[in-house]
Amino acid sequence: MSQDIATIRVTRYRPEKDAKPFFQEYKVPYRHDMVVLDALNYIKAEIDGSLTYRWSCRMGVCGSCGANIDGEPKLTCASFLHEFKGRTITVEPMTHFPVIKDLVVDMQDFMEKLVKIKPWIIREKETPPEQGEYKQSAKELERYSQFSSCINCMLCYAACPIYGLNEKFLGPAATALAYRYIEDSRDQGKEVRFPIVHEMEGAWECTLVGECSVVCPKGVDPMLAIQKTKILGATNAIKSLLMPRGGR
Ligand code: SF4
Ligand code: FES
Repeated sequence: MSQDIATIRVTRYRPEKDAKPFFQEYKVPYRHDMVVLDALNYIKAEIDGSLTYRWSCRMGVCGSCGANIDGEPKLTCASFLHEFKGRTITVEPMTHFPVIKDLVVDMQDFMEKLVKIKPWIIREKETPPEQGEYKQSAKELERYSQFSSCINCMLCYAACPIYGLNEKFLGPAATALAYRYIEDSRDQGKEVRFPIVHEMEGAWECTLVGECSVVCPKGVDPMLAIQKTKILGATNAIKSLLMPRGGR
């Protein structure tokens, strides 16, 4: 199989040594089926073992290989080198996150947001396992199914200008995950999650830019989840005003 040469410009940054990030350029031979992650692996194995980046599954499942490729948040394992043929490919860490080293960003804020929305089924009273599972119809599953495909890659946060301005903003994936549980017929945790997604920096901070949904590699539509969360919250508030006792 014939090989071409890709020119890759990668951000290098070792906080303990470098005053600021800089670019380093590498030449990488590649075949038609190779992706940007393969090029990074080639650089690490053959040219410069100090290059640092995250990856695991190499198949768009683990969500760990996100980077800005030519300015766009993408999975490096899902970006083919031949799509950039004839031009230098710039690979940078995802925007809006502190950089730990080279392409590795600090995920702490995102992880805290995921935990904050309580991403598990909440029941008013747990049924003992021996009484069987909580049943759900295909139609009920359909209500939240797409929002459960998230792989926590954080590309939507890298694309979101509101998160870039205000890191307290709950943001796309965490709100989509909250909505996934709010819409799950087995869950009874709306009262717990609504105050979280409707607080000052929750869903209402979103200004409908929509880039989160454009960059998502799994077809999740976080912007839709945020808008649906707003509607549910507003409807819930009106119901509680009209029917203060149990009006939901
Ligand atoms: S919603 Fe999409 S872009 Fe955002 S973290 Fe989940 S999979 Fe990644
Ligand atoms: S390496 Fe797992 S999603 Fe890219």
